[in-house]
Amino acid sequence: MLDAIVPIGEGVYFTGAFDPKIRTFDIIMKTANGSSYNSYLVRGSAGVAIMDTVKREFSDDFFARVERLCSYDEIRYIVLHHLEPDHSGALEELMRRAPDAKLIISHRAVLMLKGIIKTDVAFEVANTGKEISLGDKTIRFLSTPFLHWPDTMSSYLVEEGILFSGDVFGSHYYDERLFDDQVGDFAYAFKYYYDHIMRPFKQHVLAALKLYRACDAIALIAPLHGPVLRSNINYYLDSYETWSSQKRFRKHEFGQKMLSVFYISSYENTQKMAQSIMVGADSIEGVRASMYDLASLEQENMIDLMEESDVVVVGSPTVNGDAVKPAWDLLSSMAFLESAGKIGATFGSYGWTGEAPQMLHERMRGLKFRLPLAPLRIKLIPTAQELSECVAWGKELGEIAMGKVVEMTLE
Ligand SMILES: Cc1cc2nc3c(=O)[nH]c(=O)nc-3n(C[C@H](O)[C@H](O)[C@H](O)COP(=O)(O)O)c2cc1C
Ligand SMILES: [Fe+2]
Ligand SMILES: [Fe+2]
Repeated sequence: MLDAIVPIGEGVYFTGAFDPKIRTFDIIMKTANGSSYNSYLVRGSAGVAIMDTVKREFSDDFFARVERLCSYDEIRYIVLHHLEPDHSGALEELMRRAPDAKLIISHRAVLMLKGIIKTDVAFEVANTGKEISLGDKTIRFLSTPFLHWPDTMSSYLVEEGILFSGDVFGSHYYDERLFDDQVGDFAYAFKYYYDHIMRPFKQHVLAALKLYRACDAIALIAPLHGPVLRSNINYYLDSYETWSSQKRFRKHEFGQKMLSVFYISSYENTQKMAQSIMVGADSIEGVRASMYDLASLEQENMIDLMEESDVVVVGSPTVNGDAVKPAWDLLSSMAFLESAGKIGATFGSYGWTGEAPQMLHERMRGLKFRLPLAPLRIKLIPTAQELSECVAWGKELGEIAMGKVVEMTLE
């Protein structure tokens, strides 16, 4: 049973599907409130545009809503704001039912389209400024890549002031009351979605906000998940702006480089190395060095600290031929961050084989850290002499953070 047809503007309707039962999204996100796959239909005097589809399993709901609002031969355009399966799941079938409709995607989606629809289909590419007309309605496209897929774009329905923002401003929050002023309190879901999906792309968020703010007037934001936003639009724009530009540790005020030593240690051997590395790095003018025990650091704090760090130093003992789990967990939380431009380095105490620092080094290389120094290893309990080597290694890292040029290690 479908509910009443919900207009979100003059001639603009919700055609999405609700997924109240989903509890984990894209493997990485918890969705305590379920979610929705939002799709919209725009009716103009000269035809209809469908803005995105839904996840394949929810196709029936989507088509039922579309059929209540138009016949397939009225559909002139199908707009896909990005091609992720939660929105492109019903695309192929929609194109089969509406063969005369023109598919519109961003230029970055062109190669992806082949990966999703395995046959050749006709499409048109939209960049910032391109417009399509439905007679008395105009849809203008905005290029907003990497939010959160490379091919993401947004669009703006000029006459109604509706921004179709793709996943930007989305929330995994199922609530059939639909509008932000009518649903339950979804603030946590809005922030959680930002943190997990948009945060690695802060610079792209800021670029998109510039384009959004340049739209004449946004009366309503229609994202691809969760509530439709229509009350105090600036609150949502400003929230994204703040989250994408804030620096928690105020280092910009102090003009310092932040070097963080993350370590884990069972018998304090790796810990002693960490301490000496920190002291060495901190002795360099302009470097603020700190150390953190991974055994008791919450993931949320790890992410914040790593984000702010110019230099990330990771220490782990070797246990059964491997680095220990908290060190791997630290590096896996880079999935939520931009690593480009950060300096990395690894160290650790070991008993006989000592693979851990090299393994972490390789992983950091894979994450695109700059790794100017070879891993530092010390056998079992560090001597005073060895600890002063750690101090020197830390100093070297500090100097590199301040701009000293070194030969990169090639191993
Ligand atoms: C259960 C266990 C397994 C270990 N496995 C290895 C190993 O595979 N290779 C190695 O070099 N050292 C191994 N070690 C030795 C530790 O790396 C060494 O004791 C190190 O100094 C511990 O540093 P920490 O005090 O910082 O934890 C192992 C130690 C333990 C307790
Ligand atoms: Fe997505
Ligand atoms: Fe999505």
